Amino acid sequence: MLTREIRFSIDRDWATAAHGEDGFARAHPISNSWGGWPSAVGIAPYLVLQISVEGTPDETTGYLVNIQRLDQLLRQTALPATAKLLRQSGVNLTGELLIQQLWQALKEKAEWSVVALQLWTTPFLSYAIKKERSDMIEVTQTFEFSASHRLHVEGMSDEDNRRYFGKCNNPNGHGHNYRVEVTVGRPGLDDAGRAIALPEFEAITKRCVIDMLDHKHLNADVPEFAELNPSVENITMVIWDKLIDQFGSAQLRKVRVWETAKTYAEYAGE
Ligand code: NI
Repeated sequence: MLTREIRFSIDRDWATAAHGEDGFARAHPISNSWGGWPSAVGIAPYLVLQISVEGTPDETTGYLVNIQRLDQLLRQTALPATAKLLRQSGVNLTGELLIQQLWQALKEKAEWSVVALQLWTTPFLSYAIKKERSDMIEVTQTFEFSASHRLHVEGMSDEDNRRYFGKCNNPNGHGHNYRVEVTVGRPGLDDAGRAIALPEFEAITKRCVIDMLDHKHLNADVPEFAELNPSVENITMVIWDKLIDQFGSAQLRKVRVWETAKTYAEYAGE
């Protein structure tokens, strides 16, 4: 599998290009694909689109797909489609509707097997469609909480605990700023073009998870960890259990918890 990302905005110059989108692209060659192109002149949505394709690399070039062609396809498809939908729907355009349109358009044009498409509308909020379940649009929002914990197993000697858990066994605990990515999905969309109403999704997660964990000592303050070691693996599964039946017609699909910038645990059910 190969994954490639483009970053773009539908900015003032692009959206109002009187000479048509192809003409605009010719008149404004890509000047900064790292920061995003079109360049976000004025106040403009800034989007990140990732495509994953699968297949066997070419024997000679070693390429599964030439990323220049992948970029070209993404830009030629996503930019006009997004500009058109923004003009038509304005603020009523949802991430779900946009990724649904992009998935259809890219699937028709791609010469490769597209496995997944993911669209970020903020650095923390994304929408995804996957090949194995293409009727389902997944929404992932990021949350955070700060907590302290101590990794310690009652059944082990103090010395073994110290040896196994190291600094994490400090008797008075230590803290982390945890980041939690919650993914929910739903086959089809509601009348407003959503998989779930985002404020409701967030309120449920806050009520069921964040309020329970934020600024707490997990071992002492959270009953779930009275006897369960609050490792990032166990925290992830506790969060899953708290959310599994909370989202009505949308389903909980995945929970990812970042304990540090270098470690995360993920759980998607059995
Ligand atoms: Ni820790």
